[in-house]
Amino acid sequence: MTTQPIVREFEADLTVVAAVEAATDVVALTLATADGTPLPPWTPGAHVDLVLGEDLVRQYSLCGSPADTSSYRVGVLRAPDSRGGSKAVHAELREGATVRVRGPRNHFPLVASPRYLFLAGGIGITPMLPMIAEAEAAGAEWRLVYGGRSRSSMAFLDELAAYGDKVTLLPQDEVGFPDLDALLGTPEPGTLVYTCGPTGLLDAVEERCAASWPAGSLHLERFSAKAPGADEQDSAFELVLQRSGLTLEVPADRSIFEVCREAGVSVVGSCLEGVCGTCETEVVDGDVEHRDSILNEEEKESNEFMMICVSRCRGASLTLDL
Ligand code: FES
Repeated sequence: MTTQPIVREFEADLTVVAAVEAATDVVALTLATADGTPLPPWTPGAHVDLVLGEDLVRQYSLCGSPADTSSYRVGVLRAPDSRGGSKAVHAELREGATVRVRGPRNHFPLVASPRYLFLAGGIGITPMLPMIAEAEAAGAEWRLVYGGRSRSSMAFLDELAAYGDKVTLLPQDEVGFPDLDALLGTPEPGTLVYTCGPTGLLDAVEERCAASWPAGSLHLERFSAKAPGADEQDSAFELVLQRSGLTLEVPADRSIFEVCREAGVSVVGSCLEGVCGTCETEVVDGDVEHRDSILNEEEKESNEFMMICVSRCRGASLTLDL
């Protein structure tokens, strides 16, 4: 990747021009400007923030067509364990309502490849829709394996029907869980694996790809933070902000983001849990302890960028381009 830190990005109140039930407990919202002004372009894998209240900002993948600059489409699952975001969407965002939208950003871009294996779980199908359309248009060989609780809970089946046997549907109540050992047991050099869905699926796919697939084969996107590593320990360190000419102390119980905010340094953030990428910041010097759920291993090792809402410093001092 890596996307550049976004300081000034699109932010506007968009109107819900359609709110359609895409499956049980899944609503597909089409959002547009009130005056028909075109929306910023995006590429498959991009997401937007929906600002659903004070301190209630959630990320949703764009699942319409990038060729359509008149609207954005997102699919939102009413999550049983909702922390407020999906409940607010389902309760308040009916046709005619407005919602503040930021972005789009893409931390899950579709890298050109002759072959793809797409693995979607539940609402994780949303970023896959524009991806498979692009793969199809590019003439790539691809297949999608899409699992869900039941057929009625699996969104966008009507759209997927057009792809015939390139799409395998695995409703859990009919056929059980996807057999990941069969799908990923034999590495296929030259095939890129894209996956999005519940944490359990992503962790299982990550584990299998790490065991035998060539480095760089797996691309995944998380919308909830990874469980902290057992060896993660918070300790204090010195923070040098190169452009601001400031040296600050980051105590063990504060994040870099919080320390910068408190010092009056302009930083932007949204999820504050390492999943959205808004706070991505360039590293000038120092050894970063990456704790986000966005960067892949290669990007973490390059030590070029970090998510300052969760990641810290392994050593005594860290210098950032802030
Ligand atoms: Fe979302 Fe840091 S604010 S990754």
